[in-house]
Amino acid sequence: MSTEPVATLHYDRVEDVVRTLAASLSNARLYPPRHPRVTEAVRTFVGAVGLFFTAHAGWEWVRIQYGGNVVSHRGVPLGEGGSCKDLMERFEAHDCKGLVFRANIDDESAHTLLDWLLENEQKGFRPTNGVRVLTGRAGEASTMDLEARENLFFKVPELRVPLSVHEGAIDVLDMLMRELRGGRNIDYGSVLDVSERIAAVAMENDTQLLAGMNLPYDDDYTYNHSVNVCMIVTSLIQPFVTGREQLSKVAEAALLHDLGKCRIPGEILNKKAALTSEEFEVIQAHPEYGAQMLLEYAGADPLTVQVAYCHHMRDDEFGYPKPDVPVSPGPIGNLVAVVDMFEALTAKRPYKKSFSVAQALKILLTTQGMETKKPLIRLLFDRLTCFPPGAEVLLDSGERATVVKAFSETPDRPIVKVTEDADGNDVDITVPLDLRLRDGDNGDYLNTIKHVILEPVSSILSA
Ligand SMILES: [Fe+2]
Ligand SMILES: [Fe+2]
Repeated sequence: MSTEPVATLHYDRVEDVVRTLAASLSNARLYPPRHPRVTEAVRTFVGAVGLFFTAHAGWEWVRIQYGGNVVSHRGVPLGEGGSCKDLMERFEAHDCKGLVFRANIDDESAHTLLDWLLENEQKGFRPTNGVRVLTGRAGEASTMDLEARENLFFKVPELRVPLSVHEGAIDVLDMLMRELRGGRNIDYGSVLDVSERIAAVAMENDTQLLAGMNLPYDDDYTYNHSVNVCMIVTSLIQPFVTGREQLSKVAEAALLHDLGKCRIPGEILNKKAALTSEEFEVIQAHPEYGAQMLLEYAGADPLTVQVAYCHHMRDDEFGYPKPDVPVSPGPIGNLVAVVDMFEALTAKRPYKKSFSVAQALKILLTTQGMETKKPLIRLLFDRLTCFPPGAEVLLDSGERATVVKAFSETPDRPIVKVTEDADGNDVDITVPLDLRLRDGDNGDYLNTIKHVILEPVSSILSA
């Protein structure tokens, strides 16, 4: 779990960070870049960040969020308007929802942050130590040090809700695993509550959850991984389920898929190097442990038990467990299996680098034993890369089209070729339609993609 109890937060230190950043920004606006005054203000800001982490020994990062003229930390309001106002206005102009600071921020990083705040839109992002920007635009899941940023094109209107849902889910898993490790009874009601919250967010906006998946929890990877898998699976499945109750069950199953890991010794689970084959064998028992524990607990949904047991099964001999009687993972078990691998591949771990979204999907598609899961990998690909070339899409005008070319700067506005008019008649228009074009009179976009056409995958899921 994160090492930061809110109760001991030194609000004055947070205020110092925000205030000195605002002052640095004002100076950077008044003087030329790298002017001594700017550098001085930057040093004060970097010093405030340093003092903050000194006051909170053991903390690795702090996230400060902005919204509605309020600065908050983990949902706790820290200050309104006042010295923060200028900064918040500036942030709002950039659709910036907040910042994550690490103790290792230096002058250079602070200068880069100021440059970005003052001059640039998304294209101004450069790798910067110690700062991560939470933004609200396409590419909003980006961090300043994430290699795969250009592949994460999520259209997310508001980060606040998924962030708090993510944190809530982490807390529930932490509590659950502690109780189970200690041999105590668990409060399964909190799992149902958080699953319902996740389902509610997904029902409102099925892409919104994806914004919460990429948070800087470096410790307790199992929790973060489980919540990420849950967020992605729930988001992907939302268009195919009929109601919140059903979606909530999917969220519950995905969230608890690795519950059995609480019976795996910590030194193997959190090992900061690749596992030996003996250790891997120990880890391989977690699906059975998980299913067992969930069966013992009457409140768990059968789907949750099935997913916990089956999420590492594959078409070849490398999957596990290997029951004597054939057990089917079902569509949700298969989807969790795909997303589980995808999340693990894209995560940065002490013993491995993170793969980009595109690399991870390629690995999934070429991994043996994943043949029956290919339509689900395709579903993941379609959603994460927004509108990749070849994707069939429905336009606001009611026309159907095929994506011809996508752009990293405007991921939601590719060039398409219209294939069917709004009445369902085939059309053969040779001139492609550029969705980046705006109306000359009112500046509105001429057309917009409503959604990717999902029917082929939908029919597989319901089969
Ligand atoms: Fe697992
Ligand atoms: Fe997993």
